[in-house]
Amino acid sequence: MNVTSVQTLALRWTAEEFLLLDQTLLPKQEVWLKIETRAQMVEAIKSLRVRGAPLIGVSACLFIAYRALKRPSLSELRQDALAVREARPTAVNLMNNIDQLLKHFNSHEELIEEALRIFTEDQTLCKNMSNYGAGLINDGDSILTHCNTGSLATAGAGTALGAIKKAHQQGKKIHVYVDETRPLLQGARLTTWELAKENIPFTLITDSMAAFLMKQGKISKAFVGCDRIAVNGDFANKIGTYSVAALCYLHKIPFYVVGPRTTVDPKCTHGDLIPIEERTSAEVIGFHSSLESVSWAPESTRVYNPSFDVTPNAYVTAWILDHKIITHENIGELCSQ
Ligand code: MRU
Repeated sequence: MNVTSVQTLALRWTAEEFLLLDQTLLPKQEVWLKIETRAQMVEAIKSLRVRGAPLIGVSACLFIAYRALKRPSLSELRQDALAVREARPTAVNLMNNIDQLLKHFNSHEELIEEALRIFTEDQTLCKNMSNYGAGLINDGDSILTHCNTGSLATAGAGTALGAIKKAHQQGKKIHVYVDETRPLLQGARLTTWELAKENIPFTLITDSMAAFLMKQGKISKAFVGCDRIAVNGDFANKIGTYSVAALCYLHKIPFYVVGPRTTVDPKCTHGDLIPIEERTSAEVIGFHSSLESVSWAPESTRVYNPSFDVTPNAYVTAWILDHKIITHENIGELCSQ
């Protein structure tokens, strides 16, 4: 593979530099961060400057490949890889992609080639999931989505949002209801930004409005992404996803989860075993970025801030993977490639 540069909406990689679009500043500012050190990469992942399960894994591998171009020892690069692997605990793509990369540490060239293959593979996985997912979207659908699952979360078009974009490209008249996605507002800040770029009609709602919209008949189906799928089909995704799934079940609305094979964890038999990231109280007490800082609860307020929840398999209509659609009839095939 003779690739010398790659670029997506969220990252740029060349022999000279590795840049990440700082997603904490979107949609107000588009600032590209130069990532040069292990500490900078770990910080970027932990702070959600780069985020979304597939993109965390892919960008971690591209960072190692960028470092490899500077020819440090392979053992130093291994330390980099192990450090970034631990940056966030829930999205298994990070561990899956880094473990895959570690199998190719025989030479600098080999690991660079493998990182680029992982990048290209994610683009292909997105394409395939988008095609499968779009097949389940009808002309006239209004679709609820949660968090951000598009090009800011993957190396390609996205998972759930990829399917939505594909349906729009196919000429289907759709409308997207975007959950704001408290506390870090990935829906309000990022999904709206992506949908506007694609000219896809959308309406932003607060997370707590979904039930009422369903009761009003405004939602025909829900599409979400995932951070880790267990063998029995339980899956972790951004906090609030479980509520969407339970509400869909109550209102008899199809609920689809879209994810690539890199999000499946064959070692995890059920959802209770998925490690759930807990984040700081500051994220719930207010909103803080380098552009603005506001608190609406007393600073001393006790907070519980799990960043993800686990949706039980019973609430899922179908799991849209990159190679097939899984339903309750063939759920045993979730882990087969
Ligand atoms: O904390 P984040 O923003 O990294 O969480 C992202 C999500 O939960 C997405 O829904 C998930 O990664 C699937 S994205 C393709």
